[in-house]
Amino acid sequence: MCGIVGYVGDREATEILVKGLKRLEYRGYDSAGVALINHGLVVQKGKGKVIALEKALKADGVKSNIGIGHTRWATHGEPNDVNSHPHLSESGKIAVVHNGIIENYNTLKKQLIERGRTFQSQTDTEIVAQLLEEIYTTSKGVNFEQAIRLALKQIVGTYGLAIMNEETPDRIFIARKGSPLLLGIGEDEMFIASDASPIVEYTNKVIYLDDGEMAIVTRDSYKVKTIDDYPLTKEVHELAISLDAIEKAGYPHFMLKEIFEQPRSIADCMRGRINPDTGKIVLGGIEDVIDELIHAKRIVIAACGTSWHSALVGEYLFEQLAKTPVEVEYASEFRYRDPLIGKGDVLLVISQSGETADTLAALREAKARGAMVLGICNVVGSTISRETDAGVFTHAGPEIGVASTKAFTAQVVVLIMMALELGQRKGILSQSEMNKYIKELSKIPSKVEYILEHTDEAIQKMASLFTYAPNFLYLGRSYNFPVALEGALKLKEISYIHAEGYPAAEMKHGPIALIDEMMPVVVIAATDHTNDKMISNIEEVKARKGRIISIMNDDNPEVEQLSEFHISIPTTADCFSPLLTVIPLQLLSYYIAVNRGCHVDQPRNLAKSVTVE
Ligand code: G6P
Repeated sequence: MCGIVGYVGDREATEILVKGLKRLEYRGYDSAGVALINHGLVVQKGKGKVIALEKALKADGVKSNIGIGHTRWATHGEPNDVNSHPHLSESGKIAVVHNGIIENYNTLKKQLIERGRTFQSQTDTEIVAQLLEEIYTTSKGVNFEQAIRLALKQIVGTYGLAIMNEETPDRIFIARKGSPLLLGIGEDEMFIASDASPIVEYTNKVIYLDDGEMAIVTRDSYKVKTIDDYPLTKEVHELAISLDAIEKAGYPHFMLKEIFEQPRSIADCMRGRINPDTGKIVLGGIEDVIDELIHAKRIVIAACGTSWHSALVGEYLFEQLAKTPVEVEYASEFRYRDPLIGKGDVLLVISQSGETADTLAALREAKARGAMVLGICNVVGSTISRETDAGVFTHAGPEIGVASTKAFTAQVVVLIMMALELGQRKGILSQSEMNKYIKELSKIPSKVEYILEHTDEAIQKMASLFTYAPNFLYLGRSYNFPVALEGALKLKEISYIHAEGYPAAEMKHGPIALIDEMMPVVVIAATDHTNDKMISNIEEVKARKGRIISIMNDDNPEVEQLSEFHISIPTTADCFSPLLTVIPLQLLSYYIAVNRGCHVDQPRNLAKSVTVE
C-alpha cells in the first residue's frame, strides 16, 4: 500500500515521477505528491488521484532533475491535502515519502512536540522528517546519512522510505524495513520504486533492497549499506517484464484486459512444466525439496483475499490428488494464534504480489518454528518469493487491476500441478491417471478462450438486468465453493454490492432467510459429482422465488430448466472446474461495476498490495 518513486539523472524528473506514480496507483490512490529540488525543495501534493497532481505540476511548470513521489493509501489521518506525502521537516528542507506504519509515532511525536516542534499533519510519516531534522541539526559532527541511521534506530514499525534534503541536492536516500523498494540502474540516471512497473521503461537492471538496508543514490552512483553502516555488495537482477505487459493494450480497464489474458497466462503458467507426451509434471522451483514435501505430515496454506480462495481450492486438490492433509488459514489469523506448526510440516504461502504483510509475517512465524516454507507468487523478486525455502512462480504477468483475476487462475494451475506431481511421486496417481489429467489440463487455455468468446455478450446483457440489485448470493459445492466466495468477493470489491458466497447446502443454515423474489442467486453447478445435490439446492432457492443465474456445464437440461439465466461452459475434470467457472463470474462483476459507473481498476478504499497489517 502506498507507492513510492524517485528519480535522479538528466531527464525531467516530474514526467518520470508522474508516469511512475500512475503505474503504482494500484497501491493506493487517495492522494499524491512529489518533492523536487530546484534551488531548494519544492513540494506539490494534494488529495485525489495522480492525474490531479499532474495537472497541478503542469500549471506550476517546476523543472528539476531529481525528485521523489508518492501515491497514498491512508492509514493514519484522513486523505486530505495536508496528510498527503511528501512530508516536510519544520524548516521545509527535508522531504520524506513513506510506505508502511510507524508504530511508535505517538510517543515520538509527543516527545518532539515537547521539545518545541510543530506538526502540520495527522500522519505517522511526518515524525520521520521532524525527528531526522532534529537529530541532524542538534547532533554535533553528524552528517545527514548518519542522522537517517540514528532516526531509524528510534523508529518502530515498517517502512519503505525515500528522503531528500535540499542541503544534499544531488542525492536521494532510501531505506527499507517491511515495505518493498527497488533501485533501477540506468546510464547516468537512477530510479527508485515500490515495484518494477515505473522502472521497466527505462532500465532492466534492478537491485532489490532487503529489510534493514538503506542506499544513497546519485545520478551515477549508489551505495547500499545496512542501517548499521555495514557496506553491502548487492546482486543486480535483470527484469523480465516488458512494457506491453503493464499497459492497457486498447482495453478500457486493466481488469478486462487481465480477464481476457487468461488463456495466455494459464498457458504461460504451465509452459515447460507439464508434458503431455511423457505424462509428467516437473516444477523446477520445488525440485530440491520434493522429498520433504512427499514426507510432510501436513501442508498448511496461508494467504489473504483472492489468494486465500485459491488456497481453499488447493485444499481439495492436495487431499484428492496427493492424499496429503491440508489446512487453510487466513494469514492474519495464523500468525496471532500461537500456531502448532514445526518440523515436518510445510507452510505454503500464496500471494500474487509477494508483499502482503500478513502473509509475509505468517511465513516468518512458520519458518521460525522450523517448518519448511514454500511460496506461490506472481511477482518475481518480491519479498515473499525471496524469503521462502522454495516455490513456484505463477508467471501470469503483471496484474494491475486491483481485483485479482488472472492471478487467481494461475495460482490454481500451480496448485493443480503441485498436487498432481505430489500425487504421482507418492504413488497415488497411476501413469494412466496422470496422462488423463495432463491431457485435460493442456486443454484448459482453449476452453477458457471459448468461454470468453461465447459468454461475454450474454453476461453483458445479464449484468444490465442486475446492475442495481442490492444483494447477491453465490452458491457452490466442493471445488466450486471457493469459486462462490471468489465470485462474491469480485462483485463486492468493484461494484460495492453486498454479496455473500456460501457452500450451497449450508445456505439452509441462514442465508435462505434472505431469499425472496429480489435476490439474485448465482449457482455454480459445474461439477459432475455434486450435480444432483446442487439441483436440490437450486430447487430450494426456486421454491423461495430467488432469481437463479447458473453457471453450468453444456448440456445440463435440469439446471437449465430451473434457471432464469444460465451460462454454459465446457466440461472438464471436476478438480479443474474452478479454472472455468470463475471466468463468467469475473465478467459479471466487471460489467455490473462498469454499468454502475464504478472505478473498476481502483475501487474505493482498496489497494492491490496490502503492505500494512
Ligand atoms: C488485496 C488485493 C486482493 C488480493 C489480496 C492478497 O486485498 O486487493 O486482490 O487477493 O490483497 O494479495 P496477494 O498479493 O497476497 O495475493
